[in-house]
Amino acid sequence: MRLPRLALAGVVAATMAVTGVMASGGGATGAQPSTLKDLGSQVGLRIGTAVNTDVLSTDAAYRSITATQFSTVTPENVMKWDAVEPTQGTYNWTAADQLVAFAKANGQKVRGHTLVWESQLPAWLTSGTFTNDQLKALLHKHITDEVTHFKGNIWQWDVVNEAFNDDGTLRDTPWLRAIGPDYIADAFRWAHEADPKALLFYNDYNIEGMGPKSDAVYALLSKLKAQGVPIDGVGLQGHLDTQYGLPSDITGNLLRFASLHLYSAFTEADVRTFVPVTGAELLAEGAGYNAMLQSCLQVARCISFTVWGWSDKWSWVPRVFTGEGSADLYDENYQPKEAYAAVQQTLQLAGGAPYRYGQS
Ligand code: XIL
Repeated sequence: MRLPRLALAGVVAATMAVTGVMASGGGATGAQPSTLKDLGSQVGLRIGTAVNTDVLSTDAAYRSITATQFSTVTPENVMKWDAVEPTQGTYNWTAADQLVAFAKANGQKVRGHTLVWESQLPAWLTSGTFTNDQLKALLHKHITDEVTHFKGNIWQWDVVNEAFNDDGTLRDTPWLRAIGPDYIADAFRWAHEADPKALLFYNDYNIEGMGPKSDAVYALLSKLKAQGVPIDGVGLQGHLDTQYGLPSDITGNLLRFASLHLYSAFTEADVRTFVPVTGAELLAEGAGYNAMLQSCLQVARCISFTVWGWSDKWSWVPRVFTGEGSADLYDENYQPKEAYAAVQQTLQLAGGAPYRYGQS
């Protein structure tokens, strides 16, 4: 049975009292910063977005908002294995290189996404016949070659993506089957060898708050740290849905990862709802973004807040979640929504009170 559609509404009133701060998509209009990027930089937090590189190459308005509102970019698809090695042994880095160049031209950092996943693997790999040793060698080569190609240009790599089930057991992936649970530690070691300066992240969804899955990730990362595996952070994807309410104790969750001397980052934030959307749901979406952002702002080791695309026009949500949409900060006409105002206002308020746990 579906939970009440507006489970997030209870926290809306407190966070949405003022909407007069909303700006249009462009740059700052006065002396006070108003872009998300500039407001984030006042409090030491990078604000990022996933980028659709097809749209980036054809749409000037998309380029402009991506450049002016955000200080990091993540390729939505073009660094995934199927994109970079469509034919075994033949790499195609073109689209990803173009995004790295765009980021450089606009003073942005890049989150590399993603090296080890069970999804978006090339067909030659999924339909081929390989021994376990061959699969291990292929994964090692893939990580080494990709991280080496982008060496020096990636701020944070999502090294391993979505390795757990919601109940906290390890997901049955080709890598678990071929290599066993050590594939995770191996992947971090191989990535570190190829680019010792990149920050290496474990990334997953439904781990924003306390629960069996985040407990399992916490236990794994504690173990990896104790073993000296080169891991620097945990990525909380942040795909929320207004029908499920807010994750529980996000701040406490970030603090326990910080206690392992790990960074954290929200890596794919969006808040979906059923469409057509009501005014109350638009406010509830803002509350969802704010819950994650406010926790991140409170924890010094939470170093970036990335949305999974900024416009509903290009969102992955309607393709994957039947009947849902409206998950992004801007609508399909590139107009900022209530969620944009909520995020902007929270960053402005944080600028006046920049205390963060873990900062001395
Ligand atoms: C999604 C992209 O947004 C889609 O365009 C693509 O078709 C499938 O992948 N978790 C992740 C992301 O780590 O890589 C996924 O991105 C969304 C869920």
